[in-house]
Parts: sequence; C-alpha cells; structure tokens
Amino acid sequence: MIQVKNLSKHYPDKVALEDINLTFPADHTTAIVGPSGSGKSTLLRSLNLLDRPDTGTLLIDQLILDLAKPLTNSQILQIRQKTAMVFQEKALFTHLTVLKNLTEGPIKVQKKSKEEAESSAKELLKQFNMTELANRYPYQLSGGQQQRVAILRALAMSPKYLLLDEPTSALDPELEAQVLRVLKELAKKEVSMVIVTHNMSFAEQVADQVVFIDDGHVGYAGPTDGFFHSNEKRIKQFLGAMSF
Ligand SMILES: Nc1ncnc2c1ncn2[C@@H]1O[C@H](COP(=O)(O)OP(=O)(O)O)[C@@H](O)[C@H]1O
Ligand SMILES: [Mg+2]
Repeated sequence: MIQVKNLSKHYPDKVALEDINLTFPADHTTAIVGPSGSGKSTLLRSLNLLDRPDTGTLLIDQLILDLAKPLTNSQILQIRQKTAMVFQEKALFTHLTVLKNLTEGPIKVQKKSKEEAESSAKELLKQFNMTELANRYPYQLSGGQQQRVAILRALAMSPKYLLLDEPTSALDPELEAQVLRVLKELAKKEVSMVIVTHNMSFAEQVADQVVFIDDGHVGYAGPTDGFFHSNEKRIKQFLGAMSF
C-alpha cells in the first residue's frame, strides 16, 4: 500500500497540492483524474520522489518518510526499487533494441546476469505477444508499440507499484487502444497501478478506485462507481466536460 498524509507542494506562485491524504492499495488500480494543471502529475511524481513535496508523510509498505526532512539516498533508492514510472512521451533508449531496452535496467541497476535478464525480458515479450519486436530499434516501432515496450521496460524491473502518467495521451485513438489493452491485462493480473488518465471510459472500466484532483485538492477518492454516478455538482461538471 502507498499512502500519503498531509502532503503539500507549493511553487512560489502556485499551490500545486494542498494537504493531500490518500491511500493507493496494493494489487489494485487507482485512476487519478482531473482538469489540466490540477496537480495530477505532481501527485504521481511525489509517490516516487521525482517531485519533492514540501511537507507530508509518504508511506510505502513498511517504509515511512517524513517529507519535510532531508531524505537519505538509501531511502530514495528503496522508494525507487518499489516503484516504476511510465511517462506520457515514449522514453526508450533509441540506440538499443527492444530486448536491450528491457534488459538494461535489470543488468545495470539490479546486477542481474545477462542470461537471467534476457530470459525474463523474452518471457515478458511473449506474455504480451510482442516477441517479434525483440530485435527492432525504437524508430522501427509505431508509437503504440513504443509505449507498450516502455510499459514492459518498467515491468522488467519487477516494481511492486507501476505509476503511469497519461501513458496514452500522445497516441492516436487506434494506438491508444493497443496500450489500454495491455494496461487492462495488467489490471486483471492485479498489478498495483496508479494511472493518471484523461480517458474516462478506460478509468471507469479498469480502475478499482478513482482519485479526482481539483485545483490541488482531493475532490473525490473512493470507488469507481461512486465517482461516475456522483451527484456532486463539481464532479458532474467535470465529467460533462470530458464528454465520453
Ligand atoms: N516547476 C514548476 N514551477 C511552477 N509551477 C509548476 C511547476 N510544475 C508544475 N507547476 C504548476 O503546478 C500545477 C500542477 O501541475 P501538474 O501537476 O503538472 O498538473 P496536471 O498534471 O494535473 O496537469 C500547475 O498549475 C502547474 O502550472
Ligand atoms: Mg500532468
């Protein structure tokens, strides 16, 4: 379980997040939704310390961090080992084949043997019907394929929590569907995911819980059904504007 308590992040001219209290259960999918600029990315990036909140507590499983205090490298490393981030823009190593993209982290960071890393990577590719892409370079892939490889690269590090920041928003609808299929499979396998998304029908189908971030505050946190059937004016207004 990931938990944040009283988490705040202020920029000089902007309160990005104010007193956020949330729980992201293990083995479940949480969708973070909300208007542009509301603080969704800041929240997600705070969960693995890519963004540093000013105050608050971050709990990941047994680890408890007081974010107002300086953090040690070992604390940051422990958080990074438990989490993997997938970004909106494809961020593959362009000079490496798909297989090498998947083995780079396990070999360099986790000190796995080349054989072990390759065999796990091939297993992942097989599992997601992407074996034929193993020896291609990123430029030889479609945007959707690149983003699916980016997700597998995150999974290759065996993170307990997969964090995704609008992983499909740079893709055409058709390519988006390919990526969403992979995420649905992961959700079925009860991979622990926190995913920022603009795709409300995806959120409704896949998420176990929804967190609605509105102007740096939590506007809703709870069961997916409760969000999509809410009678609250602000939520209805947001969903109406998303017109899905
Ligand atoms: N480095 C920064 N400096 C100042 N303001 C920032 C910075 N990063 C983000 N913000 C502001 O914080 C707010 C939340 O940003 P963000 O978390 O990226 O929102 P979202 O992902 O929901 O679109 C926005 O108003 C944004 O302009
Ligand atoms: Mg964002």
